[in-house]
Formats: sequence, structure tokens, C-alpha cells
Amino acid sequence: MEEQNEYITALIELHRGLKRQGPGDPSFSKHMLSQLPELPHNPRIVDLGCGAGAGALILAERFDTTITAVDFARPFLADLEGHARAQGLDHLIKTVETDMGNLDWPPASIDLLWSEGAAYNLTFEGALKIWRPLMAPNGIAVISEITWFTTDIPVPVLEFWQEAYPQIASESENTALTRDAGFDMLGVHRLPAQAWWTYYYEPLRERMDALRESADPIMQAVIEETEAEMAFFDKYADCYGYAFYLLQAV
Ligand SMILES: C[S@@+](CC[C@H](N)C(=O)[O-])C[C@H]1O[C@@H](n2cnc3c(N)ncnc32)[C@H](O)[C@@H]1O
Repeated sequence: MEEQNEYITALIELHRGLKRQGPGDPSFSKHMLSQLPELPHNPRIVDLGCGAGAGALILAERFDTTITAVDFARPFLADLEGHARAQGLDHLIKTVETDMGNLDWPPASIDLLWSEGAAYNLTFEGALKIWRPLMAPNGIAVISEITWFTTDIPVPVLEFWQEAYPQIASESENTALTRDAGFDMLGVHRLPAQAWWTYYYEPLRERMDALRESADPIMQAVIEETEAEMAFFDKYADCYGYAFYLLQAV
């Protein structure tokens, strides 16, 4: 248990100071926002598993309203607060340090739920079921989830994901899960593979290079594992990636 905690602490440290903690792309996020149906006046907007706020800051800029940004990692929320101050958006960001799988918010209290690269921590199915009661009638959710992009999956890729996240599924399987949870599917949009490199892996690689020399054995292990993950994505990006599911509560 202690070893696991140390591993998570090193993982958080590795991702500190970065704009993103997972794959994404600001122009792609803006494209997703352009696809949304009209929201009510003064929408209640949340970013769940916000990390350093890649999504929350774009939402604050776009809607000029308070964004409730939830993460259980205080260091990421501190980074978000710093980025928000630097962009003059701090008056619009409300950080909440808590478990996004156990939110004690009133039912029907979210008009727009945004969650990038985080739902898998609860499993996509689990996140949908836990978050659905929090959605206002006709509320909108944009949730990204690691997804199979082909049915022709090489054995090493199957084995990798069986170990990393056995719940990985196709777009049609995930669409079925969203329906079962009480959402209408408004659209599925694939994040281009290049975004993984430009906005996530390349800044992360710089951070790894900066930490490598002084890394203790746990940080060393985290760095090696991250490098292996990058090499794997480089080889097999046609097989899997992030899909953004645009959903409406029904
Ligand atoms: C891959 S990162 C994505 C962060 C951010 N959305 C982005 O795209 O840059 C996943 C985030 O989910 C957070 N997280 C994981 N499980 C969580 C939980 N149960 N409650 C709150 N935050 C959680 C992690 O701390 C991390 O910041």
C-alpha cells in the first residue's frame, strides 16, 4: 500500500507544472464546444478529474462563468490556480479537492459536465452511472475515454490493455453504456494521435529529462514505464486513442 502511494506521489510529481496531465488539444476542445447544444443562462459547469485545468480554463474563457474544477490531487489544483491567475481567470475557477466518484452534490445540479482523460479511474461505465443523477434535465456531458479504434487488434496491444485497463471498449460498446446510463449520444469525436505528442507526451518528455538525473528508484520506475507507454503508442496509435463522447441526459 505504501509502495502504491509512493508510486502515485511520483506520478503526480512527474506531471507537475505541465498544462495537461493526459492527452488533449485546446483547438480540439474548442471544436467540441462548438458542437454543444445551447446551455441554459448561467450554466452550472464542472470539470471532473480536472488536473491542472486544461479543460476548466478553456471552459472559463468560453462561458465567462464559474467553473467548478474537481480533482483529488492538491498539487494539480495548485497548478490550476496558478495557471488561472496567470490568465486572469482566477475569479472564474473554483477548485474542489475531493473524490469525483463520491460527490455529495444535489441531484440535477450540473448543466455541463466536462471530463477529459479521467473517467477511466472510475471505469467509463462507473463514471456514467455515478454522474448521471447529478445531471440537470437535458444536461450535457463531454467525457473522453480511451477507446478501440479498430477491430483488428494485434495480440501485444490486447495484452497491454488487458493489464492496463481491461474495460477498454469500442465506440459502439461505449455508446451502448451511455444509453444504459440514461444519456443520448449526440456525437463521438476522435482526438487525433498528433495531439497526444504535441500537448502531452512532448512536454512530459521534457519533464522526464529534467527529473531523470535526480530521480529516486520509484521516480526512475515511473519514468521508464511512461517511456514504454509512449513507445507503445507510437507503434500502435491506429488501434486505440481517446474518443470524446458528447452526451445529453435524458
Ligand atoms: C489523466 S489526468 C487528466 C487531467 C486533465 N483532465 C487533463 O486532461 O489534463 C486524470 C486526473 O484525474 C484525477 N483523478 C483520478 N481519480 C480521481 C478521483 N477519484 N477523484 C478526483 N480526481 C481523480 C487525477 O488526479 C488526474 O488529475
